[in-house]
Amino acid sequence: MAIAFLFLYFLAFAAATTSHASIPLEDLKTIHPLRPTATATAGHPLPGIDCLSWRLAVETDNIKNWDLVPATCENYVGHYMLGMQYRHDCDVVADVAIKFAKTLRIPKDGRSIWVFDIDETAFSNLPYYAGPDVAFGAKPYNATSFDEYAATANVPALPASLRLYQNLVKLGIKAVFITGSSTSLEKARIINLKRVGYYTWEKLVLKDSSDKRTSLVFKSEERTKLVAQGYRIVGNIGDQWSDILGNNTGSRTFKLPDPMYYVA
Ligand SMILES: *[C@@H]1O[C@H](CO)[C@@H](O)[C@H](O)[C@H]1NC(C)=O
Ligand SMILES: *[C@@H]1O[C@H](CO)[C@@H](O)[C@H](O)[C@H]1NC(C)=O
Ligand SMILES: [Mg+2]
Repeated sequence: MAIAFLFLYFLAFAAATTSHASIPLEDLKTIHPLRPTATATAGHPLPGIDCLSWRLAVETDNIKNWDLVPATCENYVGHYMLGMQYRHDCDVVADVAIKFAKTLRIPKDGRSIWVFDIDETAFSNLPYYAGPDVAFGAKPYNATSFDEYAATANVPALPASLRLYQNLVKLGIKAVFITGSSTSLEKARIINLKRVGYYTWEKLVLKDSSDKRTSLVFKSEERTKLVAQGYRIVGNIGDQWSDILGNNTGSRTFKLPDPMYYVA
């Protein structure tokens, strides 16, 4: 029964593919977007569709330097972050990164490193961002309350990144954490990293609160120092474009989703 169903599904898929392939490009304008069929919503745009477009635009870095999640998208972003889609999107990034790492030939000199960002990369600050004063980034950033949260040293790991980390350690690739979080949080971050399963790393680089470099410049310059010290950056993962653009970005970069905030 299941096999018969699968076969029918395959036939339907093959037929659909064929008929789409035969439509000339200039006729695409005759294909209408799908509409919900329920009477209550028939003929109306799908709720959340503009927020999905907004999220795609921020994830691709087409929209830059944005300040807040649009108020109309607070619910959308909240559902995305708390639901399975965010987890699946992160898992795909980790899967690709692990597959890539396994293709690398790692010399046994201990100089191969993988750069990890911390917030929304090694850790997930969702318990903080889901709070009513933060509203998934729809309310203005409050550095004081965020640092209070980070100082609890009780921030959960982002499971996909922890899985990547565990695979890298097995492959002989060392983690280097480069974070914009303040040097005053160093102790808390160390306790927190170990508590959630990041047991060992080559370096942990934090940013002094008097350091006025942008995150892009800070992270670029810190990576450049690592390369000058003889490290090979074989991979680099972060939730912000400023984690993975600039100089000495690494052999391959991986961008995790983050529709809650933008760091230049
Ligand atoms: C920021 O957070 C601190 C600490 O929780 C709080 O005292 C302060 O009122 C908050 N500031 C704003 C503008 O909400
Ligand atoms: C990258 O390196 C070039 C050359 O040293 C420098 O001019 C530029 O500012 C660097 N970019 C960043 C983002 O640090
Ligand atoms: Mg981050």
